[in-house]
Amino acid sequence: MKDNIILIGFMGSGKTSVGIKLSYRLKRTMIDTDKWIEQKQKMTVSEIFASLGEEEFRRMETQCLKKLLDLADGQIISAGGGLPLREENHQLLRQLGKVVYLKADPETVYERLKSDSTRPLLQVADPKERIKTLLFQREPVYEACADMIVDVSGKSFDEILDSILINIM
Ligand code: S3P
Repeated sequence: MKDNIILIGFMGSGKTSVGIKLSYRLKRTMIDTDKWIEQKQKMTVSEIFASLGEEEFRRMETQCLKKLLDLADGQIISAGGGLPLREENHQLLRQLGKVVYLKADPETVYERLKSDSTRPLLQVADPKERIKTLLFQREPVYEACADMIVDVSGKSFDEILDSILINIM
């Protein structure tokens, strides 16, 4: 098993922000799976969803994890919110290191993302309802994947960081 810390959780749960802070605190570099895919494809996630479809994006996520298994060790990895949904990714995530689930409630997610246009899955008439439905479906998957669960709703970054560091190091 590699020694990475992998952050999973719903869109807007703070994976990127927490990941950046963790990387400073632990002096580790950070990799974001969405950014990795965007750089490789030279397209944004929204463009990939629109032109190639979600299924193709999911294949790219698995490809990214396989690549990271070759390349990444001692790093912080922020995983796209839907990445844990593919069964075959669970094993890959486990091999990559310790998996931390940043658990956010639907209201927190909605407040953070209500003006965001970069998440194709939330560009619907009723994003609040969509968030609730997706979170309800995904929560058991995130929990099954995680070595550690951190409740992030109503917590400061410092509190979140401290919980992770106390439990994982
Ligand atoms: C998705 C989450 C996004 C991105 C894509 C799909 C999802 O990543 O991968 O829009 O299915 O939850 P973030 O969780 O970093 O926003």
